[in-house]
Amino acid sequence: MKAATISNWERKLRPLITKLPPKIVVSKYSSGRLDFLDKLKLEIPSKPYSPPTDLSVELWGITFLSPIMNAAGMFKNGECYEMVAMQGAGAYLGGTGTWNPRIGNKKEGVHLPFAPYPNSHSASNWLGLPNDGDNVNSNRAAKLKKILIPIGWSIMGSPDLQGDDKLRYLVEGMRLYEKASVDFIEINESCPNTQHGRPQDDDLANRLNYIKQNFLDQRSRRLPVIVKFSNDTHREQVPNLMDLLFGFNFDGVNFGNTSTAYEKRRVNVVESERKLYDFFTQIFGGGISGRPLKESSLELAGTAAEYLKSGSPSQEFHVIRTGGVETLQDIQESKRAGVLLNQWFTGYFEEFSKHGHNVYRRLFSI
Ligand SMILES: Cc1cc2nc3c(=O)[nH]c(=O)nc-3n(C[C@H](O)[C@H](O)[C@H](O)COP(=O)(O)O)c2cc1C
Repeated sequence: MKAATISNWERKLRPLITKLPPKIVVSKYSSGRLDFLDKLKLEIPSKPYSPPTDLSVELWGITFLSPIMNAAGMFKNGECYEMVAMQGAGAYLGGTGTWNPRIGNKKEGVHLPFAPYPNSHSASNWLGLPNDGDNVNSNRAAKLKKILIPIGWSIMGSPDLQGDDKLRYLVEGMRLYEKASVDFIEINESCPNTQHGRPQDDDLANRLNYIKQNFLDQRSRRLPVIVKFSNDTHREQVPNLMDLLFGFNFDGVNFGNTSTAYEKRRVNVVESERKLYDFFTQIFGGGISGRPLKESSLELAGTAAEYLKSGSPSQEFHVIRTGGVETLQDIQESKRAGVLLNQWFTGYFEEFSKHGHNVYRRLFSI
């Protein structure tokens, strides 16, 4: 059976399945999600779709075919590049990768815990950065047919390394993707899902400075590097973060990643899904994605875009919005706020379950 058919059936059953005891739901969805992705990566749509040309945006000299592309974590090991290119994505993002391969989190007998909240258009995950490592994945990136759509790669310091090694190998990894001819790099400064807590929260300025000195200042070609922060970032922090990025010569910012503000997001989870939500957040923690992040991502990205106008850094700098982007209207709201590029994850899979490989065609035809 094709991934689109499975996804369509599953969408109809989802509201029922998610009423089962939470432990069963998490166990079924965590393994089912992986089986589904295994099928998806074998599929290439037969009919290519190109978004209307007036939707394309040029940022950093790169032509994005439309203002929306996949978010990090969807294709951790470089899967599905041709698939999303044929579907009509604006660009492709691989990763998040780490220097060493990681198998990701396991707890209560569940590997890579995930739970959907279909009526809330949301989900929780506590994956813990499973990926095949930068050596393997940069080789895969090098082999992708880059003529189709631009390619970015998300990367972060491995949670298995500490101190100097963590940064040294982060930069080594960035060099591998630079050599693999990717078009841009996104640094994940916001993953809530590592067993060691949140080491990337400390010492941000020193880390960014290290990356500036050891990578940004030594780039041998134009290779934009953007930094992705959490959607839990306080709005008041945005100017300081932007000043750091301007000063250290970064090329953009992305707001942002999943949320761990469980109480705050809970109000946006419908009553019937709160038992599952409470179970997941209490047992695994993890990050919340989807519609509950819509307002935060717009507010943070919009604030960053506004600040960008007044800050005028010497480098070309852009703001990306990720979190709860589901519709053309969301993309238009981003644009009104000065945000020209969006990424989506939860919304993409929800739309895929309705329209299969016509996901971008339908998005732009409404
Ligand atoms: C299952 C899953 C895995 C994710 N993995 C990553 C990741 O590896 N790196 C990252 O930067 N963000 C990761 N994210 C966060 C997404 O890239 C995105 O920032 C977040 O889900 C909000 O977007 P959405 O509301 O469109 O889902 C992941 C999200 C989900 C649901």
